[in-house]
Amino acid sequence: MKYYITTPIFYPNSSPHIGTAYTTVAADALARYHRLIGDQVYFLTGTDENAQKIVRTAEAHQMDPKVYVDGVVERFKELWSALDISNDDFIRTTEQRHQIVVQKIFTKLFEKGDIYKSEYSGWYCTPCETFWMENKLIDQKCPNADCGRDVELLKEESYFFRLSKYQEALHQYIEDHPEFIQPVSRRNEMLRFIEGGLEDLCVSRTTFQWGIKVPFDPKHVVYVWLDALINYISALGYPDGENYQKFWPADVHIMGKDIVRFHAVIWPIILMALDIPLPKVIYGHGWYLTKDGGKISKSRGNVQDSFELIQRYGSDAIRYFLLREMQVGTDGTYSEDNVVERLNSDLANDFGNFISRSLAMVVKFREGIIPKPGQDGDLERELKALSQEVKKSVEESLNRCDPASALEHIWRFVARCNKYVDETAPWALAKQQDQQGRLDTVLYTFVESIRILAVLTAPFMPGLPSKVCRLLGYDEGLIHWNEADQWGILKHGTHVQKGEPLFPRIDISQYATVGEIETVDQEHAPKETIEPIQTPEFEPIKDEISIDEFAKLDLRVGKVLSAEKVEKTDKLLKLEIEVAGEVRTVVSGIAKHYVPEDLINQYVVLVANLKPTKLRGITSQGMILAASHGEILEVLTVKKDLPGGARVK
Ligand code: ME8
Ligand code: MG
Repeated sequence: MKYYITTPIFYPNSSPHIGTAYTTVAADALARYHRLIGDQVYFLTGTDENAQKIVRTAEAHQMDPKVYVDGVVERFKELWSALDISNDDFIRTTEQRHQIVVQKIFTKLFEKGDIYKSEYSGWYCTPCETFWMENKLIDQKCPNADCGRDVELLKEESYFFRLSKYQEALHQYIEDHPEFIQPVSRRNEMLRFIEGGLEDLCVSRTTFQWGIKVPFDPKHVVYVWLDALINYISALGYPDGENYQKFWPADVHIMGKDIVRFHAVIWPIILMALDIPLPKVIYGHGWYLTKDGGKISKSRGNVQDSFELIQRYGSDAIRYFLLREMQVGTDGTYSEDNVVERLNSDLANDFGNFISRSLAMVVKFREGIIPKPGQDGDLERELKALSQEVKKSVEESLNRCDPASALEHIWRFVARCNKYVDETAPWALAKQQDQQGRLDTVLYTFVESIRILAVLTAPFMPGLPSKVCRLLGYDEGLIHWNEADQWGILKHGTHVQKGEPLFPRIDISQYATVGEIETVDQEHAPKETIEPIQTPEFEPIKDEISIDEFAKLDLRVGKVLSAEKVEKTDKLLKLEIEVAGEVRTVVSGIAKHYVPEDLINQYVVLVANLKPTKLRGITSQGMILAASHGEILEVLTVKKDLPGGARVK
């Protein structure tokens, strides 16, 4: 089977950011998955360079537009390589291979009568590169939800494309092909939009020269959206190219919801007018928003340096975060704290920890040699059945372009693996002579589970497979999708290694300072105006957990015996807490809210089974609970006379 997937071609008016990275990483995960299942994949990304805003930005930098975009395009390519993006092609709309095709198509549509000459008089939003009729404007500004900027009055001779002629045909096509526009909320939006009536679209400009010239009337340049959409076939060598014959129609055009309209209206009509098949799926995902709800975008300037992030946390962790956090049909919240939280909980604690603790046991109990397994028990049968269910669910999720749900399913398996370790208690088996056969089975099941996880996560975190294979004593050759629910692949007798943790935990005290840096946005900080204090929004409620997952938390009442500030920090307090007959040291980030003395003799709630971490050189054995909203924080205390050690459940 062939599989052709594209990202939008991004405007190189400034460097790529987390938002553009999301779309590209999602497309990459889908492309990698399809390669793994044996499809012939063509994965295209690129840059949209013939826009008026490119000219404006270049002018602002006093640079020639081509020289300017050449520089920015390098940044895109570097970021994609840092994020392990496996695109097969990168198209730039300033390339000749693209320009020739656009000119050919423009001429063809003109000759067919679908493009005609007239005069445009109306408004234009340069940031959105969109024409607007007067009655659509809101307060004389661009009506796009994420724009609202100034529009300019245009009155010029232009060519027009007969969208109106195809309105009915397009509406019918969308009705007949429920999978064409996804998710379904976007499809409904588009149907309503088309029902509102399609006006013919202005498709050329005469007031600037940057762009692709209309071949038979060179004072006109082709409207940037008509030009840009054609990239999806010009890159394949339309009309005669081998790749075009092989890969068109596209299987998925993936993009943000901001530009679904162009892809679901203008693009299909171009294709209908050319009499060639439409893409199979147009998928519009949500946006990454900042914590205060604004869209992350170049023009808002709230863009954090993606290279710095990748350097700090690694490409796999950033990819995991982006894919996991964007739930289908909604927007995702991006902040560096969220990245660290996901990294620590999902990757370090759940995933990485399973791998390192189980390999450590193979090293400890079997000198690192994979043993020959004995008979399966109920627990092994359950784990194997789950692997089959999970593999199927992952496939279904990816067929729906939903990497977040695919990862959720994989993490169900991760959770089950961790539970399997606890239930089988190999450390106890190791002490019993007559349980050595059972121990072999358990250890073998560990390494097979690790192999399966490496296969399942390979499309999402492409840096992992080679690392995990090495830990398992293989050079490569372990990543076969059809073996993600098969057991008994690893050869016994192979030497495994304990290795370094795949995802080391990020120390939260380091992360507190990172958070501070992030919120200081010099350029956009209010200058002389006094902003009203805003009540922050509530964080969205987290994903559901089962009662079993909740029961893993061991919460205890603890009595604070002493409290003091940690030297050289203004956030951290060091507490001595008495709990169930022992005294724990706990470091807590509450110093801005409490005088240390006020906490002494209070009964607080302690997460007693949290793995110890080192903060500023002090080992913190647990964490105390506090409620907070905005600037207000209160440590939870218990008023009745309960002893330190009482359970909270
Ligand atoms: O629109 N969250 O280019 P563009 C998620 N050149 N995705 C985001 C995002 C965010 N905060 N910000 C941007 C164009 N994106 C045209 C496309 S295609 C023929 C021409 C992603 O540079 C998302 O995919 O403005 C969005 O649709 C795209 O970047 C817009 O990129
Ligand atoms: Mg944009």
